[in-house]
Amino acid sequence: MPATKVVVSIPDEAPYDVRIGTQVLDELGASLRKIPRAGSVSRIVVISDSNVAPLYLAQAKDSLVQQGFRVSDIVVPAGEPSKSIEVLGEIWEALATLGLSRDGAIVALGGGVIGDLAGFAAATYMRGIPCIQVPTTLLAMVDSSVGGKTAINLEAGKNLVGTFTQPAFVCASTAVLSTLPEREWACGCAEIAKSALIDSDEFFFWLCDMAENLAQREDQTVTEAIARSVVFKAGVVAFDQTESQGIRECLNYGHTLGHAIERLAGFGTFSHGACVAEGMRFAARLAEDLVGCPSELTRTQDELLDVLGLPVLDWCAEPDEVLDAMKRDKKVRAGKVRFVLPRDVGSWELLHVEDETIVNQLKAWFKAKA
Ligand code: NAD
Ligand code: GLY
Repeated sequence: MPATKVVVSIPDEAPYDVRIGTQVLDELGASLRKIPRAGSVSRIVVISDSNVAPLYLAQAKDSLVQQGFRVSDIVVPAGEPSKSIEVLGEIWEALATLGLSRDGAIVALGGGVIGDLAGFAAATYMRGIPCIQVPTTLLAMVDSSVGGKTAINLEAGKNLVGTFTQPAFVCASTAVLSTLPEREWACGCAEIAKSALIDSDEFFFWLCDMAENLAQREDQTVTEAIARSVVFKAGVVAFDQTESQGIRECLNYGHTLGHAIERLAGFGTFSHGACVAEGMRFAARLAEDLVGCPSELTRTQDELLDVLGLPVLDWCAEPDEVLDAMKRDKKVRAGKVRFVLPRDVGSWELLHVEDETIVNQLKAWFKAKA
């Protein structure tokens, strides 16, 4: 099957391509040669993690070397703790030791952790060199590799230091998804479901029809789901790159409760995607009361999430504790918790919700699950 291409055009930024397909990793070097911002660089440093490197680093490097790039690599431990000041500092030092200069570029080969970390390193090293995103998780393909957010974490919270810096190119190889663990697959599916519901009838009902195929990782469906998600995200980011217009926040649908569960249950207890899916179920119920979301949509979304391997979580807590955890989120403004609430498929509202309303809805949600 030929590769699928989506062009991301954001005002005041150079447009870039997202290439999706089974062969695109082998064609990485040739693709870069055609890109004005990357084709003329002489040195490339591939940054990857300790899980992904043994699987795909040699393939990525071979493709670049064949096109005459001088290639080095930096491999960091897999996992969220690598999005740290310490690891970032080690990367900066390693780039300098390797002698990378302004005619160099960075390839981020990995999931969202590597995308955010290597993207931030590229945005800051020598005041900014091009970054090529090569996402290897479904989540990174449908969400984090597009849109330009880069970040590391602080003790005080996730993603507190970063930039908005768009990549020069995104290379999404569906072939590498064959090794992705089921838990990580479901994480990507949660973000696809989020995107589809916020986007349009066309995307949402297509996904409902194709959900079994996506869960089974059928290649054509996977490619189309990635392409549709990228088109959706690119459209959102084009209107509100820096999340200052109240539009990019729609990408946080399901994340208000989702982040609170991750914090309360302990990071890693449930996957990020499982928590987002739970947050979507909850937000739809809240939306029924507050913005007239049809109950039929809540049911359809429930069924979709079930098929995508994102069942209702076997988890409850004191509603007041959940509210406190929501208030510790960095997205809170003036102590008010905000939710992205669907009015219907393709229509949403960002609403400050009163504490009492949240607590009552949580009580009802936990009771219904008991
Ligand atoms: P991740 O990068 O930690 O990857 C998940 C796990 O899968 C890791 O253990 C990784 O080594 C492994 N892995 C990756 N690709 C693999 C493959 N093909 N085969 C086998 N194993 C593979 O996690 P993630 O879910 O991809 O990303 C989460 C991160 O993304 C978080 O830090 C989050 O803050 C960030 N994020 C950023 C944005 C953004 O817009 N920049 C958006 C969403 C999430
Ligand atoms: N994933 C949220 C964003 O890119 O804004």
